[in-house]
Amino acid sequence: MTNTSSPTIPALRGPVTLSHLFLCSFIRDGDRAIDATCGNGHDTLLLASLVGNYGRVWGFDIQQQAITETVRRVTEANLSGRVTLLHTGHEEMARHVLSPVQVVLFNLGYRPGGDRTIITRPDTTVVALTLSLCLLSTGGIIIVTVYPGHEGGLAEQSAVENWAAGLDPHSFHCWRMGQTNVARNAPYLLFIQKSL
Ligand SMILES: C[S@@+](CC[C@H](N)C(=O)[O-])C[C@H]1O[C@@H](n2cnc3c(N)ncnc32)[C@H](O)[C@@H]1O
Repeated sequence: MTNTSSPTIPALRGPVTLSHLFLCSFIRDGDRAIDATCGNGHDTLLLASLVGNYGRVWGFDIQQQAITETVRRVTEANLSGRVTLLHTGHEEMARHVLSPVQVVLFNLGYRPGGDRTIITRPDTTVVALTLSLCLLSTGGIIIVTVYPGHEGGLAEQSAVENWAAGLDPHSFHCWRMGQTNVARNAPYLLFIQKSL
């Protein structure tokens, strides 16, 4: 007999789908979350749907087009009331966000479909990651999708990997998760949890 009530099986095609699986397991109703790189708004939309009516999402992007696209997406889903979008760099997050937050999400690189020369940069990314540690609640998570493949991607990968490797293992659990049967420079996830 077919079980029609079974949940949809997620297709784990690439790191972003894996990051979404983590977000679905970690975020609870009423949580606060940051999308450090709004881009086309897909991640902001998921965060907004997961935090519930009493939660809040702050989204950052340096491109007006990214903010406009994200506004459109969350408005269409009737979730704009849960979201504060900021047309500024994530390195400014501590000025805008009330701590503690349960999740900070980074999806590095350039905006798909947009200007490929506008990319996240090692210096500002590392500043924002360090600020995220301070904003994070106990048990809270930072998820970073790292893209080594584009121009500038290797330098950013190196900066982010060095930053993560330097975190105190008693205070933070750092994981690297990537597919093995893909190109060596394929995107992958870094996952950091503030220890309980
Ligand atoms: C890969 S895209 C993000 C994809 C997005 N999360 C989504 O769901 O579509 C990376 C984004 O980071 C943005 N970005 C670059 N530097 C930034 C910074 N310092 N602060 C915030 N966003 C930045 C780019 O403008 C770009 O839109």
